[in-house]
Amino acid sequence: MDELVNFVEGQQQLLVAGIILFFAILEIAGGILKNTKRSSGDFVQEVTSFLLLSLLTKPGIVIAVGFIGSLLLPSASVLLNGVNFWAILIVFLLVDDLLQYAYHRSAHEYAFLWKLHRPHHAATEMGLLVSYRNAALYYLLMPNIWWIALVTFLGGGIPVSVGLVMKQLVIIGSHSTVKWDRFLYKFKVLSPLAWIVEHVIVTPAFHFAHHGKAKSDEISDPNGNFGNMFSIWDQLFGSAVFTRKYPQNLGLQSDSVDPWQAHTFYPVIKADNPNSEIGKGFEKLKTTTKEPIKIALLEGNHLWCSCGFSRSQPFCDGSHHGTKFKPQLIKVEKMQDYNLCNCKQSKLGAICDNSHKSL
Ligand code: FES
Repeated sequence: MDELVNFVEGQQQLLVAGIILFFAILEIAGGILKNTKRSSGDFVQEVTSFLLLSLLTKPGIVIAVGFIGSLLLPSASVLLNGVNFWAILIVFLLVDDLLQYAYHRSAHEYAFLWKLHRPHHAATEMGLLVSYRNAALYYLLMPNIWWIALVTFLGGGIPVSVGLVMKQLVIIGSHSTVKWDRFLYKFKVLSPLAWIVEHVIVTPAFHFAHHGKAKSDEISDPNGNFGNMFSIWDQLFGSAVFTRKYPQNLGLQSDSVDPWQAHTFYPVIKADNPNSEIGKGFEKLKTTTKEPIKIALLEGNHLWCSCGFSRSQPFCDGSHHGTKFKPQLIKVEKMQDYNLCNCKQSKLGAICDNSHKSL
């Protein structure tokens, strides 16, 4: 086992490159290049983000923390020497993933962070490169990268290297079009195994649901499944949505096509389009009205806007991203008249309860 650990530590960069290459070959064999919906700007953005993260941000943070640490607390650099490898690995991975869960969830709930994370969700198809599709500043502020640097400085470099290889395998696997978990759902006999796997690590089905456009398809939930390596945090904090299907429509509901430079370098570079969330002069405006909206809803699923920012009231158009609000799903079996709340104060959610009369 020691030899394996030493090998993984020594070859960490090569192993991660091998994982990427492995999934890349499978994705290309599956026709991703032939059938892609990506523009050249998408590819440029993904490759630029990947290179910035791998060659600049991550090594830069590790070097900076090591440098500052050795100036301020030189004796701390051997703190983890002699501590059991497995204990460091487990604690490192759990703290790392919890930090990333909290950061990722915040990126969906707070406007500024959302704009840095938005490129990740602007992708209209999955693929291993989507894993690296965020603004450069998103990675610089990512707390778990600083955690990696800290544990490395404290003398935990070997377990950190091994942990990062394991984590990359899960994260790239959950973004890739390879959908490695499909076989688990195909045979009933594998169902208990599928249950265990999906309740421990993030599977493609679990993560694809997070990239789905809207939950009206009853598979997607962009406001859930924030986990990166483990699904346990979503289960603990009430954001887990288990599915064994993959959404057809991926991306943002009200997508504006923005240049890759704005996606990558926001807020230094902004898009020219003032209607884009990352555009110059963009403002998120309340679109509520005091009176409810009387409307006949056709059979099917509808999403009612609860945040009050939608430009298609009373329906959700995705403007709730960057807030803690989520749309409410209305399932209509037969065409029917509804009195939908548009002051967003109804205690009944989508249905008007006359709360507007006391405003
Ligand atoms: Fe989705 Fe308001 S736009 S909840």
